[in-house]
Amino acid sequence: MSVKFENYQASLKGALEMPGDKSISHRAIMIGSLAKGRTLIHNFLDGEDCQRTIQVFKELGVKIDQKGCRVEIKSKGYEHFISPKNPLYFGNSGTTARLMIGILSGLNLTAICHGDAYLTERPMKRVVNPLRKMNAQIIGREEGNYLPIAIDGQRLNALTYEIPVESAQVKSALIFASLFAKDQSVLTERNYTRDHTENMLRAFGADVETEGLKVTVRPQPNLVGKKVNVPGDISSAAFFIVGALLAPQSSVTLKNIGLNKTRDGILRVVKAMGADLTYDSVREENGEKVGNLTVKHSELKGLEIKGDLIPLLIDEIPIIALLATQAKGKTMIREAKELRVKETDRIKATVEMLTSFGAQVEELEDGMIINGEQKLHGAKVKSYFDHRMAMTAIIASLVTKGAVEIDDISPIAISYPEFLEDFQKLL
Ligand code: S3P
Repeated sequence: MSVKFENYQASLKGALEMPGDKSISHRAIMIGSLAKGRTLIHNFLDGEDCQRTIQVFKELGVKIDQKGCRVEIKSKGYEHFISPKNPLYFGNSGTTARLMIGILSGLNLTAICHGDAYLTERPMKRVVNPLRKMNAQIIGREEGNYLPIAIDGQRLNALTYEIPVESAQVKSALIFASLFAKDQSVLTERNYTRDHTENMLRAFGADVETEGLKVTVRPQPNLVGKKVNVPGDISSAAFFIVGALLAPQSSVTLKNIGLNKTRDGILRVVKAMGADLTYDSVREENGEKVGNLTVKHSELKGLEIKGDLIPLLIDEIPIIALLATQAKGKTMIREAKELRVKETDRIKATVEMLTSFGAQVEELEDGMIINGEQKLHGAKVKSYFDHRMAMTAIIASLVTKGAVEIDDISPIAISYPEFLEDFQKLL
């Protein structure tokens, strides 16, 4: 069902608590289930993707009790997991898929994995190939590149590997598999990607060492359940950061958001564009930096975004591109080809959406060039069944002359079920 958002021409004002970080919520369920004992998670993201991860571990025999944002896991540890009776369903969740393929490869069980129409079109070879080097037994469609995939868990060999794609999902899948290998594994990244798996595994007692871009994993850890406070999701905050920067006289405070330096690319970029940002209560919890951020409407200038910055803001590129249409001068986004294999091809989708609003945007193979100071008009657009594209279109309604109509906003529930209520609170 399509939904219309009037041109609000309003400023955004107020303070919000952000929903829990999606990446960290997935990892809390995974690591809490692998660990022995009781894990209590606060500020868990009660969104559709993370629900898939909970369901998967329930089918592996773990006791998980969820009440909204509070989750209690009682586990006897990974040695006690059982082979699921039914295929494991990952829905739309790439993180569940990639990380679970890594975990299941090294456990003493057999499982079949599948996903929705979008996930079954996303590449899995990036994890399947290195896992096969560890002797993982995986078969699947098109030589294992696409779901459905069947895994016959094995005791794995250690791996020394340079990861050719800049992907925290690939790194995390291999770190998980390495926990169950015969010897220590060494994984090297080309650029920094989000390091939540490493941080949380260490907090649960695993021997995972990071030295620059190199991660060393020593196997057979004694993981013990613990309390986890999930920080607010900076990728969800990104929509209101941009909303506040775009709408005149805005001032928005986003409380307790994750400020991990492998995720803060958007803050570095908007700062360099001229944004007025202030921080308070900055602290560290379970190896993750957290704090409050206040963003005020600012006059911005365009810039070039590429290289090692890209993995630090990969999910924020559609909303940054919208911001760039209102900045002075051009913004160039390069070396972001990974966007083509997200929930949708986000280069194509972003260029199409911004063009529908009347912006001048040039599509590049690995990014886009966005002209600034564009006058945007209302339009009917698609969400491409992508939560971040849907939220980008809604934020655009702050600056379009005329209403924005979106074909389907239901995917927002994947990462930010209360997005519309929170948006209303700030208007
Ligand atoms: C994620 C990693 C990123 C990101 C995704 C979540 C994770 O994907 O786009 O939304 O939780 O590890 P890639 O690792 O494929 O870049």
